[in-house]
Amino acid sequence: MSTTIDYSYFINAKSARRRPALTREITKRQYGGPKEQISLAEGVPNEITFPFESITVKLKDGSKFDIVGQELASALQYIPTQGYPALVKSVKSFTQDVHNPPDWDKYETLVTNGSQDGMSRVLEMVLEENDSMLVQNPYYAGTEAIIKPLNVNVIGIDEDEFGIVPQKLIDALENCKKYTEEGGGKMPKIIYLNPTASNPSGRTIPTERKKEIYRICCQYNILILEDDAYYFLHFLNEQPVSFLSLDTEGRVIRLDSMSKVLSSGLRLGWVTGPKRLIQNIEIHISSCILHSSVLSQVILQNLFEKWGNSGLLAYFSRVASFYKVRRDYTVSCMEKHLKGLCEWELPSGGMFIWFKVLGVSDVYDMLLTRGLKKHITFIPGQNYMADPTAACSYVRASYSKVGLKQIDKAMQILAELIREEHLLLRRKLDSLDDEIIIR
Ligand SMILES: Cc1ncc(COP(=O)(O)O)c(C=O)c1O
Repeated sequence: MSTTIDYSYFINAKSARRRPALTREITKRQYGGPKEQISLAEGVPNEITFPFESITVKLKDGSKFDIVGQELASALQYIPTQGYPALVKSVKSFTQDVHNPPDWDKYETLVTNGSQDGMSRVLEMVLEENDSMLVQNPYYAGTEAIIKPLNVNVIGIDEDEFGIVPQKLIDALENCKKYTEEGGGKMPKIIYLNPTASNPSGRTIPTERKKEIYRICCQYNILILEDDAYYFLHFLNEQPVSFLSLDTEGRVIRLDSMSKVLSSGLRLGWVTGPKRLIQNIEIHISSCILHSSVLSQVILQNLFEKWGNSGLLAYFSRVASFYKVRRDYTVSCMEKHLKGLCEWELPSGGMFIWFKVLGVSDVYDMLLTRGLKKHITFIPGQNYMADPTAACSYVRASYSKVGLKQIDKAMQILAELIREEHLLLRRKLDSLDDEIIIR
């Protein structure tokens, strides 16, 4: 990597005090150590006492695999915090294959309980109370749930149809710089982005814009937290280039997730980033959950072995096609019912459509009181905004799971709801006019 980054700047005081537990270190060594090693050190249970004989996983393509013997023993046992060693090897090779980062040797990868887990570890490592953090605006509500208790000042960078606008990022950073120089605070250290098919907006940042954002982050010494949960669910002609692929300096932490493409309940993801930062996250994980569920990891490892990287990618691409059909259908229902009432962009991937309700400056009550009474549920846009207290005319709809007929019905009811809302607002305005005339 071309520049030497002082990673201690990105590790807060609490996180810097973390130390590895001796027992976890021994488990790690035992796993990688010579076979003749005799260890009376670890307090691990004896697998002989576990009641499981074998686990068979049947796949929808008709094939199956059995988890038995030594593999089953490992699947039911404690492992090193970094992850099931065979899987760690697989996800590393997969990540290198897919992203081909400029200086791969400088990274480490760690298996997590989904990307939410990885995200919370990263943010808890970097952020201190009263720090500022940059986020795409709108942004994933699960991120807000992590940073709220940290009492962090959220700086939203507004998007256009291609994600955050670089000039807005520069303006925000220049403002922070001015404020910091006047003694008013600290510069933000991290930006949170969903580069592919963002939740909630469905936007993907094109490569040229990514390069510009990356350059700005280098200039202001900002870490990029690339939460790319929809990376494999894009509807574009080419696979988007990740920030990790562009990371010449070692300032990208990438979160991958299997939730949207294999299973959300397996709770599997991985975090890839500069070694020093991943080591710190590893110590954090070792102090709270020891490691992610091994059974889930063994299942994923079997898929890697059966399908290989290219087989997995081909499967993910079929999943993306499934959602693309749903997106197209949802948009056709919106064309039918919501034309003239709402405005939207075509989501470039993912599971959501983000749209603006015309003539309603605040959709909150409309959706969450009157909408619920009509038996439709949509999420009001406030939930995703850097400033959730401001009125918001946007709505997020998910087209991932509901039956197609129900999507059509929900859009039809939403249209009725919006028309009723327009009437209500007009009546309110009329009564205000009357009051003014009477006075
Ligand atoms: C942008 C984003 N990040 C993270 C997550 C959490 O994913 P996981 O199940 O991998 O923890 C979600 C889930 O909806 C998401 O939309």
